[in-house]
Amino acid sequence: MVQIAVVGIGFMGRAHLRNYSMFPHAQVTALCDVRAEAMDPNCPETAGNIAAGGVQFDFASARHFTDFEKMLDAGGFDMVDICLPTYLHAEHAVKALEAGYHVFCEKPLAMTNAETRWIIETKHKCGRHIGVGHCLRYWPAYREVKKIIDGGKYGRVFYAEFARFSLPPIWGWDGWLMDSKRSGSAALDLHIHDVDQVFHLFGMPQAVRSRGVREKDGGFSHITTLYKYPQFDVMSTGGWNCSPSFGFVMRAFFILEGATIELDFSKSPALTVFPKEGEKFSPALPPHDGYFYELKDFTEHLETGNFENIVTAESAAQSIRLGLLEIESAHQDAEIGV
Ligand SMILES: NC(=O)c1ccc[n+]([C@@H]2O[C@H](COP(=O)([O-])OP(=O)(O)OC[C@H]3O[C@@H](n4cnc5c(N)ncnc54)[C@H](O)[C@@H]3O)[C@@H](O)[C@H]2O)c1
Repeated sequence: MVQIAVVGIGFMGRAHLRNYSMFPHAQVTALCDVRAEAMDPNCPETAGNIAAGGVQFDFASARHFTDFEKMLDAGGFDMVDICLPTYLHAEHAVKALEAGYHVFCEKPLAMTNAETRWIIETKHKCGRHIGVGHCLRYWPAYREVKKIIDGGKYGRVFYAEFARFSLPPIWGWDGWLMDSKRSGSAALDLHIHDVDQVFHLFGMPQAVRSRGVREKDGGFSHITTLYKYPQFDVMSTGGWNCSPSFGFVMRAFFILEGATIELDFSKSPALTVFPKEGEKFSPALPPHDGYFYELKDFTEHLETGNFENIVTAESAAQSIRLGLLEIESAHQDAEIGV
């Protein structure tokens, strides 16, 4: 049985708690939030741009803390799951590692390359493991696309594009999401999902060329990037300037030699493959979302001690490096070599 402490009981913290409730091999023994009321079962649900469902969590089954260091001292768990605002990830991950715990950290792992280096060095020093919540690597439809591309049946990739459009996330605790110093704005917070998919599917590009909608605080509330690879180009666009009545959508589109693949979560089914020869089809997919599979995977790895396929801090750090280069390209309005 893996025992877990969850810190940050907002939108994502609650989504993680609901998923842990479905795992027979995991037990949440501690909760931490600066707002005691966040750990009250009657606390109204925090909003978010994507449905993150699951069964209800029994808040009375875990100890409650409003002080992170007191929770670390009290112990009674194997891992700390960090669902805090992004600017707090590095400091809390390092403290948890130094206290001897494994860490699961929501995306993006940190705000800067210096912070990701600090986390990785501490991880090595302390001999603990970190998994990062890049949920799209576990989202069944995205996973299926990777399987199809890597399988090679439809030949090489000619072109790929990713899109992620949201209403402004005014719901975050203390307005942190709308403050680019604390969230990295949409370019780091929202768009990192697609940056990570670009890196996960195709590796690092040779160069990036980005433009975006720059806010008064210097953050980009929308960013569009061209990723240059030797044989093909990838495009990605994302931001949170959409009308509230539009809500949220994620999409991706791939042109291969032998097939076109469309992923569009405003459609049902979301994934359709259009082969050049034969009928279009929608592959059958596993029933849960990426949050379920990423947390199941990390906690099962903790039980078995085999960490081969988790989303490592090193790999998440590469996505941050790429995302930050895109932001730099948008600031300079120039292409940047990777
Ligand atoms: N994987 C995804 O699809 C996804 C979706 C949404 C958010 N996220 C990520 O999850 C993280 C949290 O985002 P959220 O939307 O849940 O934010 P949120 O604002 O809903 O929740 C943050 C919580 O942290 C608490 N908190 C703040 N400072 C604290 C401290 N020092 N100690 C303890 N608790 C503290 C707040 O009271 C709040 O309950 C972010 O990194 C975000 O980027 C990921």
